[in-house]
Amino acid sequence: MAERGKWKSSLGFVLAAAGSAVGLGNIWRFPYVTGKNGGALFLLLYILSVIFLGLSVMYAELSLGRHTHRNPVGAFEAIKPGSLWKGVGYLGVITGIGILSYYAVIAGWTLYYMVISGLGKFKQGITQAQVNELFSSFTSSPSLTIFLLFIFLFITSWVVSQGISSGIERWTNVLMPLLFLILLFLSIYSLTLPGASRGISFYLKPDFSKLSFKIILSAIGQAFFSLSLGMGAMITYGSYLKKEENLFSAGIEVVIFDTLVAFLAGIVIFPAVFSFNLSPAEGPSLIFKTLPFIFSKLPLGVFIGTLFFILLAIAALTSTISLVEVATSYLVDERKMARKKAAFLVGAIAFIIGIPSALASSVSTFSNFAFGKDFLSLMDFIWANLSLPLGGLLLSIFVGYVWGAKNAAKEIRHYKDKKFPGEDIWVFLIKYFVPLALLIIIGSMIV
Ligand code: PHE
Repeated sequence: MAERGKWKSSLGFVLAAAGSAVGLGNIWRFPYVTGKNGGALFLLLYILSVIFLGLSVMYAELSLGRHTHRNPVGAFEAIKPGSLWKGVGYLGVITGIGILSYYAVIAGWTLYYMVISGLGKFKQGITQAQVNELFSSFTSSPSLTIFLLFIFLFITSWVVSQGISSGIERWTNVLMPLLFLILLFLSIYSLTLPGASRGISFYLKPDFSKLSFKIILSAIGQAFFSLSLGMGAMITYGSYLKKEENLFSAGIEVVIFDTLVAFLAGIVIFPAVFSFNLSPAEGPSLIFKTLPFIFSKLPLGVFIGTLFFILLAIAALTSTISLVEVATSYLVDERKMARKKAAFLVGAIAFIIGIPSALASSVSTFSNFAFGKDFLSLMDFIWANLSLPLGGLLLSIFVGYVWGAKNAAKEIRHYKDKKFPGEDIWVFLIKYFVPLALLIIIGSMIV
């Protein structure tokens, strides 16, 4: 077998994994889901999900990947050969393509916003109604949304076809730190807007009377989605990690970075939403309607706005890269396909499946597809809210009982004869808490 790729440095891995984690999930999905679910209480539940479920599953995936040095299908097969467990790997590969198909549609939107913002469309004096109008006339153009979907997938497949350290790692090394700086800058600005404090209390003062099962459910779904868990992306990225790297600290760094970016995105959005009297419960179009309006009010707004959408597109790219990489690594490892061919094949499949999502705001069949949802929202529900927690459940059972939590813990340890900090807690969480919590959630969802 040809030599498998490897990350060049430990920081390179952390940035690539953070690149997978940080994306539209943090900046597009997190604020609108938080806004829809009442704000601060959702944030609290989200953070609890990240700490108690996300971090545990993150270590389970990374250790399984690095231990086996295989793609998700191969990793399950390596530990329990000839069993049905590799089905969990297949579920991951399929889920990755499913998420990719609609994720790349929204990613295409960011390209469009990058261009029109650069052309100065969001200039001073534009009204909120005009911003909304721009959004709806754009999303109702079938040819444009399909074209952008194609472009985004093409770029993604191209980067993945270049391989691990010279493709993925080289890009994320520069892009992730830049994204973080921009967000920091925008959040400071947003906090100084008149009336920002109402946004802050919406975002940070929980109203416990709103607690419901549905909110807990979306918080867990959001945590998995944002951390790229439950479909083997972190198994795959972990599989390119050298044995001498410190898995424990890499895992926690990725989780902290991801959560910080989501948190900051909320700090950018909510003060502005309240300051300009917009609705936090706007839904998927939230950032595309509020942010351009904010930018139009800023000195240097055209510049800042354009920069922001460039970075958003980049954040989306480093995530779509990991979505393509999962299926690609499967085709390369298990089907002996050439990396280039595999990467473009995965992109092509996602493109075809993605077309109905691209048409979700223009063609009536897809804008009211089933269960009162448009096609894109339905895909998001199936893959993000159902499939990721299900993948996480099966993975935690596999790591906890089939491979054995103790064996996995040894892989996480940096010094093989010394427990990693919190090892006993992790063993408890992955064996009992994570499967039970996810089982209850998924069960209730089906009922
Ligand atoms: N975590 C990515 C984001 O927040 C989305 C993603 C999900 C990427 C699952 C890979 C796997 O945007």
